[in-house]
Amino acid sequence: MTRAVDNLLSIVVLISGRGSNLQSIIDAVATGELPVEIRAVISNKPDALGLQHAVQAGIATQVVDHRQYPERAAFDAALQSAIDEYRPQLVVLAGFMRILTPAFVHHYRGRMINIHPSLLPEFPGLNTHQRVLDAGRQETGATIHFVTEETDGGPAILQAGVAVLPGDDADSLAARVLEQEHRMYPVVIRWYAEGRVRLDPDGRVRFDGAPLKRPRQLDSEAGAPC
Ligand code: GAR
Repeated sequence: MTRAVDNLLSIVVLISGRGSNLQSIIDAVATGELPVEIRAVISNKPDALGLQHAVQAGIATQVVDHRQYPERAAFDAALQSAIDEYRPQLVVLAGFMRILTPAFVHHYRGRMINIHPSLLPEFPGLNTHQRVLDAGRQETGATIHFVTEETDGGPAILQAGVAVLPGDDADSLAARVLEQEHRMYPVVIRWYAEGRVRLDPDGRVRFDGAPLKRPRQLDSEAGAPC
């Protein structure tokens, strides 16, 4: 079910690299599928390819280079003021590869989401696909979750499952998971814009007014708002 949204949801997207998830959001906004205004794309790396996607789409870009800050807290404070200048309603981490301080996470509680290429809580952190293969798993996937102090650990909103195939290596698996990732952010950001998904004060996801017992599954969202 798609609901009308009176005002555009303002977002800032944080990236560190390629920016293909950012591009999926840009594309969904361009087609009118997402009632969103991307106010800025901010990268911690000056050479992040994703910055070019933003420039091509006419979106403001900014770099807050973590190497210019001796301490994590100082970097996060600079990042926070850069974000807050754009006054976004939602902060979207799309391949943003920095560990965030508790103060930063607290500031955006319930207003910051992340995508991670595994079925969380399994395989948080780096080198996800190789670790999935090494563990002999037959299924993996991707998760979008609210950001909490635990890295890749906040309450999950949406997951998509991906089969591990014989002969897969980390690259082939990453590519198939990424295909699903690109479908996911438009769905979740739309839910947020429509007020359908929120983080409860007690730290649980609330979906359509009720606590979400398990993350929603992308494939059961066919025909749903995306
Ligand atoms: C994506 O696979 C995303 O899930 C992952 O980085 C990649 C970024 O790709 N994020 C994490 O691992 C966060 N822990 P992109 O820059 O092409 O969107």
